Amino acid sequence: MKTHKIAIMGFGTVGGGTYDILTENREYIRATRGLDIEVKTILDRSSAPLDARGIDKSVFCSDVDALAADSEISVVVETMGGVEPAKTFITKMLSSGKSVVTANKELLAKHWHELEPVAREHGAGLYFEASCVGGVPIIRAINESFQGDKVKSIYGIINGTTNYILSKMSAEGVGYAEALAAAQSLGYAEADPTSDVEGFDAAYKLSILASLAFHTCVPYGNIYREGITSVTASDIKHAKELGYAIKLLAIAKSGDDGVEARVHPCLVPIDHALSSVSGAFNAVYLNGDFVGDLMFYGAGAGAHPTGSAIVSDIVKALGGKHTYTDFQNTGKLSPDTKLIGDFTSGYYISLIVDDRPGVLSRISTMMGDLGISIKAATQGPDYEEKKGGANVVFLTHRAKEHAVMQAIEKIGTLAAVRKIESMIRVL
Ligand code: NDP
Ligand code: HSE
Repeated sequence: MKTHKIAIMGFGTVGGGTYDILTENREYIRATRGLDIEVKTILDRSSAPLDARGIDKSVFCSDVDALAADSEISVVVETMGGVEPAKTFITKMLSSGKSVVTANKELLAKHWHELEPVAREHGAGLYFEASCVGGVPIIRAINESFQGDKVKSIYGIINGTTNYILSKMSAEGVGYAEALAAAQSLGYAEADPTSDVEGFDAAYKLSILASLAFHTCVPYGNIYREGITSVTASDIKHAKELGYAIKLLAIAKSGDDGVEARVHPCLVPIDHALSSVSGAFNAVYLNGDFVGDLMFYGAGAGAHPTGSAIVSDIVKALGGKHTYTDFQNTGKLSPDTKLIGDFTSGYYISLIVDDRPGVLSRISTMMGDLGISIKAATQGPDYEEKKGGANVVFLTHRAKEHAVMQAIEKIGTLAAVRKIESMIRVL
């Protein structure tokens, strides 16, 4: 049996996890797939990560050009992360006809349209199952399982760090800072947690998933994005009382009016399947016009779950029949795709107001004048009570985003309104 030689660029968490699977299950992959796969080269800044695992230094390489020139290697895994030098390194590998398997959602979301033509030109494959939702084979499902369906919507919990933080705040009543520190100590967050907590990571993944699902470019820059940094313990408590969990959702919808793509915290009804996705787990809830609702659930991060997705891509890349996107991958919104900014949603609005007669009716009149109908209102007894203030929470029926933004601006001008605490959309 021929031995297929591959390389790994970036030997950290995911690169190491990939190596574990390829070595521990080498015989199994030989027996079941008929492929003998050997990691011939590991490129990193230093050989320290190899030393830490007792791997012979002979596989270490720090010269990317030497790796690109090695004609024995047919597939290269990129698990370095970041845009540069990953983009340059991948371009070198594709240009020398090597297929690339990457977990790098940031690079894909920003430069997929530049990398794919290089792959096509050189007959190389570009595989990225691991870039979205870790070990969950969502990209394969979207690409290979809905040939007869139009995907209408995707609702995803696709960032493990934020889901861990929000779950911990909900289960233990702790504040955001304490929950973030725990997520960092457990290694869920990216090196710079801003990417996770401000929703960038989820927006990168949503851009990839929505583009594949809707067969059109949904550029990362066109995705509305809000992170979880302003979600408070009190929002989580109110939401719970009202029968909701707060999740960072990545939402994409495609319909006759165009495409919606947004990442923001969301109140999810407690009886919705997504509300039970806790901790660092991920889930994608997808609707196809004929298949109906499906939910994909599993570990969205971690060395071995993500490594598993990479190994499956390596096996696919070695199969040799590479496929590419079936839409014009220009990196720009297609002129025939309308992006819907004024979507409709339910809204949770939390205000600190003077606790005196007439305040609630003035606020609800303002909302009513803008076509916003209130579904529920509660007044917490615990906020600034001694100073004559109250925390009032409204839940609205579905309303237009722009109308709600306008209402919030107007409500903020009322003398009786001390503070607009939060506005969170409702699923
Ligand atoms: P790590 O930081 O653990 O590993 C990256 C490795 O690449 C490190 O050894 C790093 O060395 C090395 N590296 C970085 N830059 C260079 C360079 N210029 N030249 C040579 N080596 C370099 O990252 P992860 O494994 O966590 O993530 C890798 C990729 O996988 C990222 O794109 C990430 O978004 C993605 N991903 C990660 C998941 C996870 O669970 N961690 C899940 C899904 C995707 P040094 O440490 O010295 O910088
Ligand atoms: N930081 C990412 C997360 C890793 O928390 O989901 C997986 O992409």
